Amino acid sequence: MLYIGVDLGTSAVKLLLMDSQGKIVNIVSKEYPLYFPHPGWSEQNPEDWYEQTVAGIRELIEGADKSQVAGISFGGQMHGLVILDKDDNVIRPAILWNDGRTTEETDYLNNVIGKEKLSQYTANIAFAGFTAPKILWVKKNEPENFARIAKIMLPKDYIAYKLTGVHCTDVSDASGMLLFDVKNRCWSKEMCDICGIRMEQLAKCYESYEKVGTVLPKVAAKLGIPESTVVAAGAGDNAAAAVGTGTVGENMCNISLGTSGTIFISSGSFGVDKYNALHSFAHADGHYHLMGCMLSAASCNKWWMDDIIGTKDYKAEQAAIARLGENHVYYLPYLMGERSPHNNPNARAAFIGMTMDTTRADMTQAVLEGVAFALRDSLEMARSLGIDLKRTKICGGGAKSPLWKKIIANVLNLKVDVIESEEGPAMGGAMLAAVACGEYGSVEEIASKVVKIIDTVEPEPELVEKYEARYACFREIYPTCKPLFELITK
Ligand code: XUL
Repeated sequence: MLYIGVDLGTSAVKLLLMDSQGKIVNIVSKEYPLYFPHPGWSEQNPEDWYEQTVAGIRELIEGADKSQVAGISFGGQMHGLVILDKDDNVIRPAILWNDGRTTEETDYLNNVIGKEKLSQYTANIAFAGFTAPKILWVKKNEPENFARIAKIMLPKDYIAYKLTGVHCTDVSDASGMLLFDVKNRCWSKEMCDICGIRMEQLAKCYESYEKVGTVLPKVAAKLGIPESTVVAAGAGDNAAAAVGTGTVGENMCNISLGTSGTIFISSGSFGVDKYNALHSFAHADGHYHLMGCMLSAASCNKWWMDDIIGTKDYKAEQAAIARLGENHVYYLPYLMGERSPHNNPNARAAFIGMTMDTTRADMTQAVLEGVAFALRDSLEMARSLGIDLKRTKICGGGAKSPLWKKIIANVLNLKVDVIESEEGPAMGGAMLAAVACGEYGSVEEIASKVVKIIDTVEPEPELVEKYEARYACFREIYPTCKPLFELITK
């Protein structure tokens, strides 16, 4: 049998075809535009996602025996607000996870409703990128759109709806809406009341590995796949990536270096820290996880390479980096504001420490190191909760760089296990489809059989020590710059 994993990302949709043994048969990627209509805003058209997903699936299975396609599932960019009218038409462009327009609504939720109540209802507090503040933003700024809302969906759920006709979501993605009672894995009536919405406006919530339906006959005909093809609910991209890297069960860690950067810690039981510094979400394996999320990770490197120094040859730029742990230049990676741990949409990126002998390679190195330091900020939060991690998996576009993996291993002082394929969310999506089809008994079972570690990057004590000192300096930069960020974003 064949399974399709759809990773609905921010710059592109990545599609992966996997066989019953977990072997990757084909991978296809299709880009779509990302719009920044105002500084700090971030939007996409759900129709672009669907069109490119369909085009991508057709290309993906072109040379395969299409009659063998048994299941499709997803890893999707989280938190995005997709609103549909009573005829299921998209009302306005989706407001994405890295959109920072909701400062006012986030403050209202955290300070007027209060963090304690939010945490009690949902296990989380409000962050600008979460879905509930976006609903409040639409309510206040676009009342005519708000009045037309019949269904509120997340990005990947729109694709599932188009494929099956079912309004659905899954527990991991729902967790990031601030409308979901994570502990009890159900919608929160209190949060719906706070946001002025009705429970019927939300989609039916499934476990990630559950079947939602089968593809509609017209979709099956368009794609050339059997009408019996199962669509499983899937997961938010981080939970799907965790499945794809075998980060399931108790106290496992995965770092994702994509447009965003996340540190994801799986847990057999529900837990929440008293500052809500880390997100406490349901996991796609039926359990829970904690997660820190930085808004710009591999996207910092892409911005620096493509837009600023103007090269596509990332390898050559990184080859010029000679002295790890000795860089006098620091970089704050807050190109889109920052989520974890600062929760500040007004934070901005910055270089500091340059001198006349600073080279282009020092600046490139600072970008890679700045992202690693910012991930360490979230790891420190986990460590302060008594979570003891020795190793992590890694995935995402940034994980292709051996140098970046080495920097991460040493800045975080973690062994970094490299997986055969770094296609986290797409692989996880295909694996969830295989579980939904009964090919494997559970997410844990498929992860233990399919995911293979092919290498481990070990931290080096001397380098760890050097980075320890650099990290101590890095930590001072944000609090010092914070008042300036408020000033320059006024
Ligand atoms: C997680 C988050 C990002 C997006 C990226 O909370 O906002 O990782 O899911 O696609």
